[in-house]
Amino acid sequence: MTWREYHEATKHSVESLKRMRQALDWANMPDPFRHYEGVPVLDLPADPPVPEMPALDVLRGTSGTEPVGDGPTLLSQLLFYSAAISASKRVPSTGYNYALRVNPSSGNLHPTEFHFLTRGLKGWPDGLYHYDPSRHMAEQRGRGHFEMKLASGSAPIVFVLTSIVWREAWKYGERAYRYCLHDIGHAWQALALSARTIGCHSSALGHFLDDDVARMFHLNRDEWPMLIVSLHGKSIPVREADTGETVWFGGQANQLSAETVAHPLIDSIHFATKQSSIESNGTSFAESTPTVSGEIKLPPPASSTRSFGEVARMRRSALDFLVGEQSMSLAQLSAILAIAAQPLSADFAGTRFIRLFLYAHRVDGLQPGIYRFLSERAELEQIKSGDQRVAVAGLSLGQDLAGNACVTFSMIGDLDRAARTYGDRGYRYVHFEAGAIGQGLYLAAEALGLGATGIGAFYDDEVHCHLNLVPDQGQVVYHFAIGYPVPDPRVSASK
Ligand SMILES: Cc1cc2nc3c(=O)[nH]c(=O)nc-3n(C[C@H](O)[C@H](O)[C@H](O)COP(=O)(O)O)c2cc1C
Repeated sequence: MTWREYHEATKHSVESLKRMRQALDWANMPDPFRHYEGVPVLDLPADPPVPEMPALDVLRGTSGTEPVGDGPTLLSQLLFYSAAISASKRVPSTGYNYALRVNPSSGNLHPTEFHFLTRGLKGWPDGLYHYDPSRHMAEQRGRGHFEMKLASGSAPIVFVLTSIVWREAWKYGERAYRYCLHDIGHAWQALALSARTIGCHSSALGHFLDDDVARMFHLNRDEWPMLIVSLHGKSIPVREADTGETVWFGGQANQLSAETVAHPLIDSIHFATKQSSIESNGTSFAESTPTVSGEIKLPPPASSTRSFGEVARMRRSALDFLVGEQSMSLAQLSAILAIAAQPLSADFAGTRFIRLFLYAHRVDGLQPGIYRFLSERAELEQIKSGDQRVAVAGLSLGQDLAGNACVTFSMIGDLDRAARTYGDRGYRYVHFEAGAIGQGLYLAAEALGLGATGIGAFYDDEVHCHLNLVPDQGQVVYHFAIGYPVPDPRVSASK
């Protein structure tokens, strides 16, 4: 199978949805938390320092300068503001409480796991760890020196983000692989931004030998390595690396559900996008930048003083947006778009694959219609005029929130160029980029007093048709809505 076959086969259409309609097997719902039985568990200090820098500054690339304390405090802060539980949601009909996390996830199913290696971190034993968000603790799977071939150079902290695709496939079937890739993009940025507040620079590596990394981390068979994120920086408190013997604890991974249903298309796309040699890291095919001028110059971006700590933990997905409320300003939109255009630090991010199309519903100074964002010029080009609320809600599988938002986005990914550059592996990178942009949009919206929701469900080809996209202009990979959120009384924030 190639990326193209998988992508075609998992497009939504009216017919495909009719075929898919089946009840969820609630009794078999996968556990959203992974544990390793029988390994030492290390505390991460409670109440780590709050990153007080304005969130918009962090999103624009400013690094923190505050001292972070010792290794355990640094790890605790890093994870508390990127991957920890931040709220709970009570469902009145069942009385059941769901944990919500700092990083969003399609269907709140959380396929992403955070593993990390440390070497020479002050006050923390060298080793290999798995983060358990249910307890905000680190499970020590091994102690001592674990060689991380290819990845890290001399980074004292190296994360490996993995996907347990079954968690997502349980609900979304074969399309779930796309959502897992998006979730990795969100988790990556959540981590990179949290690291930035403590003065760390992160670099992501998508190009690695999958089986080597899976072996090295002794990953369970249901868990696949997706992205390696190394953290560097003078702010990381270091010491000499441990010299003692390396001890492997391993531990027994918990079984997530009684039965795992096979999804052959997912196995095939994963196999197609796996790397079995690292000879080349792709020949870059530059993006053809539009020569048109955008007509609408974006104004200086709106500002916000809300702290990163508050914004990261308060971020939620809006269930729906208030209609009839005030519009958002063009300056707010300008701030949000500037964040979307920020550079990403990854071996696949030298050239960008995503372009943003906007459906402006209620933005002051912008006629309702569809616009293309020209990031190089901070301009908008109008490509269609007229009210898009019904159309984009329809395109987003009839989800009202896409029409009730102030602005909704279609992220258009140049999947062909990614594949020319990186082979089938490029399919992952386009989705990571979309997720990473989405994470910036979530946080920028929250900082500006708005709310947001990622939308993975849309009628793919109908979107292309509505935007008059010809095949070589790319394909829709993600939708995103921003507006004034309807309050959700079921959600309460966790400390
Ligand atoms: C990749 C992705 C796709 C999503 N798709 C939808 C969607 O189609 N409709 C929707 O209402 N929410 C969608 N969401 C929002 C999730 O349902 C939400 O993140 C999850 O319930 C957790 O809530 P939280 O974001 O408040 O932590 C999506 C989120 C992500 C990351």
